[in-house]
Amino acid sequence: MCPGSYDPVTLGHLDVLERAVALYDEVVVTVLHNPAKAGTFSVEDRIGFVERALEARGIGDRVRVQAFGGRLLVEVARELGADAIVKGLRGTTDFTYELPMALMNRHLTGIETVFLPGDPALEHVSSSLVKEVARLGGDVTGLVPDEVRDALVASQRADS
Ligand code: PNS
Repeated sequence: MCPGSYDPVTLGHLDVLERAVALYDEVVVTVLHNPAKAGTFSVEDRIGFVERALEARGIGDRVRVQAFGGRLLVEVARELGADAIVKGLRGTTDFTYELPMALMNRHLTGIETVFLPGDPALEHVSSSLVKEVARLGGDVTGLVPDEVRDALVASQRADS
């Protein structure tokens, strides 16, 4: 299981999902839906972006994408019968953020978290940075799928 906010999906996420597909027979992307906190994109849009990007990479049939919210991630993992939580690591900052969650999730149900180092060429790519760059008029081509770039540009136009 590859959980996250995916708001929106980046090429960094997709790199990690491709690596997960190479390791596991089945991968489930669980997209956090937090009704109390409006994301930049709706959860339906976020799921659609991930699904179409996976399709374009030829791995759409190996990955299921679904929303979850209002409950513990480990409960979703248990329901799915997931062998592991898979997370990408860009560097030490990610590790510092991820380690307590991995330990807490293991404490709760014993589920392990597997960390996969991402492509170093995408180390600087995060959803939040991409959104900031796009909002201020920067070009995010090559950091997110083209469809996501176009949606970011469109939402930036709608705001101004
Ligand atoms: O992409 P993100 O925002 O870093 O993903 C964080 C996510 C969704 C994996 C994390 O917030 C999460 O697991 N939320 C579900 C609630 C939960 O189980 N919290 C305890 C985590 S130890």
